[in-house]
Amino acid sequence: MQYSDRASAIAPFYAMAFGEKATALEAAGHSVIRLNIGEPDFGAPPAVQQAMQQAVADNQLPYTGALGDIRLRQAIAGFYRSQHDLAIDPQRIVVTAGASAALLLVCAALVNPGDEVMVGDPSYPCNRQFVTTFGGKVNLVPTTAADRFQLSPALVEQHWQAATRALMIATPSNPTGTAVSAGDLAHMCEFARARGAWRIIDEIYLNLSDSNDGPPQTALSFDNDAIVINSFSKYFGMTGWRLGWMVVPENMVAVIERLAQNLYICPSTPAQLAALACFTPQTLALCEQRRTSLLPRRKIVLDGLADAGLTVPVTPDGAFYVYIDVSQTGMTAMEFCDRLLSEAHVAMTPGNDFGVVGGDQYVRLSYATSEAQLHEGLARIKAFTHKLKQC
Ligand SMILES: Cc1ncc(COP(=O)(O)O)c(C=O)c1O
Repeated sequence: MQYSDRASAIAPFYAMAFGEKATALEAAGHSVIRLNIGEPDFGAPPAVQQAMQQAVADNQLPYTGALGDIRLRQAIAGFYRSQHDLAIDPQRIVVTAGASAALLLVCAALVNPGDEVMVGDPSYPCNRQFVTTFGGKVNLVPTTAADRFQLSPALVEQHWQAATRALMIATPSNPTGTAVSAGDLAHMCEFARARGAWRIIDEIYLNLSDSNDGPPQTALSFDNDAIVINSFSKYFGMTGWRLGWMVVPENMVAVIERLAQNLYICPSTPAQLAALACFTPQTLALCEQRRTSLLPRRKIVLDGLADAGLTVPVTPDGAFYVYIDVSQTGMTAMEFCDRLLSEAHVAMTPGNDFGVVGGDQYVRLSYATSEAQLHEGLARIKAFTHKLKQC
């Protein structure tokens, strides 16, 4: 009995593996501080939870159309109108089972064997796995702290290949929380567009950006034909609800619809009905309040890490991650995470999940947890690094 080459080649996602190890420690009676998973502790807004109960009580919950319930697609269009002053035709909005399914559909639609997709290193690993699953090749472009760990117009130009069919950028990014400026992103999109390449822009953290007067511009503001991916997972705190969306060019809708029909029929009906409650002024105000509460959490983390003698080379622009340089400890990222979890019961994720080039040197910390947990986690990290210095 054999598994496919594709399945055999797929790399483990260490964030999950460390989560499982943390669960085993908890089962053995230890208290573990989990700073390894990118999952907000807020949960779904109360109005969404109530809407879910109502949806289940009132409906038989049949399949929706493969592109999603039209009322939700209209509500998402309204979100682009109010947040970005953009008129997006709801027909171009595809509701998906999380950003993950959007990525799956996009790669199924666009990637032929041998096609190349340009992605920055470090970046969210699963997005790349979709490319390779469909036989594509990832052109992983190394970035450094000096680039704020993001692609730039110069890097894109320098690494562009004849086989490059698409550019994939997440801004702000996972694992670094750093963003690309609208000017640079517009530049890179235009460079790719002029060469007939797709622009796949992952905006799952855009609404968790630091800006005080609304989110930064969506890529759709300057590149109407970009494929823009978003999700209910992070800003709306709905990770397990498995709901996201994307905006695709008009002429791509039909192919995406055929793929969605065949690959999973439709996104979850109750989750879609409940998600309609995301776009009320009350829910949006709550989500904004939650976003701003992430800033003091970041400060606790940055201060605590400095106190523990660990360096964060680039301050994030949003999301809820910091990317820590652990090279001064003399350990690889994997050793650091392993020992930190075993000895101090703090779970973090080694950079090897996100990057090839600097993967061994960096560790991702997610501060999407309470201030109390962060204080405790940072105290344990400080005690751990202190002990290391004494050895
Ligand atoms: C950059 C990025 N894109 C996509 C995803 C997938 O998110 P979803 O839960 O919407 O499938 C994640 C999840 O952490 C992410 O960080």
